[in-house]
Amino acid sequence: MRKPIIAGNWKMNKTPKEAKELVEALKPLVKDAKASVVVCVPAVDIAAAVEAAKGSKIAVGAQNVHFKESGAYTGELSADMIKAAGATYVIIGHSERRQYFGETDETVNLRTVAAVNAGLNPIICVGENKAQREAGYTDALVEYQTLIALTGLTPAQIKKVVIAYEPVWAIGTGLTATDEQANETIGVIRKAIARKYGKGVANAVRIQYGGSMKPSNVKGLMAQEEIDGGLIGGASLKAEDFAKVVNYED
Ligand code: PGA
Repeated sequence: MRKPIIAGNWKMNKTPKEAKELVEALKPLVKDAKASVVVCVPAVDIAAAVEAAKGSKIAVGAQNVHFKESGAYTGELSADMIKAAGATYVIIGHSERRQYFGETDETVNLRTVAAVNAGLNPIICVGENKAQREAGYTDALVEYQTLIALTGLTPAQIKKVVIAYEPVWAIGTGLTATDEQANETIGVIRKAIARKYGKGVANAVRIQYGGSMKPSNVKGLMAQEEIDGGLIGGASLKAEDFAKVVNYED
């Protein structure tokens, strides 16, 4: 059995002070959660969030990582730096980074390998846009994105990776994939991993749904067999809303 994982993606929101307040408000609300709970925060908030999360089950993640260990890469952060700041997860290849910051499947792979080698748990985002879904390319696209991202990892390393299936058309739009659509595409991703790495690996990988996941739709999504959790944007910015998602309540 895979342990579900609910992760908040705060995107470019919250100062360190606000991060501390949000994590402190969240702590009592998620103390009985059955899922792993993660908040992926802006890099400048990692230390404050880690400090505030002490003594709770809330883990802290970053939202991006560079693939080199150090050097002349102005503005970037290495996996070791993120880990030293206390984060244990990192989002890689979010569609906003693919769309606005030139992220490619190849750089997603480089970042994933760097994160895993440093001992960070990657949350790798894949997903189609509206035109790709309408043209019937969803399955081929998510299979390709997933398999490229995992290239170079050992089967044991792949088992610990988290994949977030996030249809781009559902992110921040209020539109959600139906429970069945999300379940089906996540099943496609798992089958692709099984074909390449075997069923044992595929059955261990946790695959989240993301895209306007919130208290009103969490129950239906989490009842699906293939869905192992969620990556939550908008609804992760308020403690009460995020806690409801974590606890599958509406
Ligand atoms: P959303 O964002 O929940 O606001 O749609 C999800 C994400 O981008 O990870």
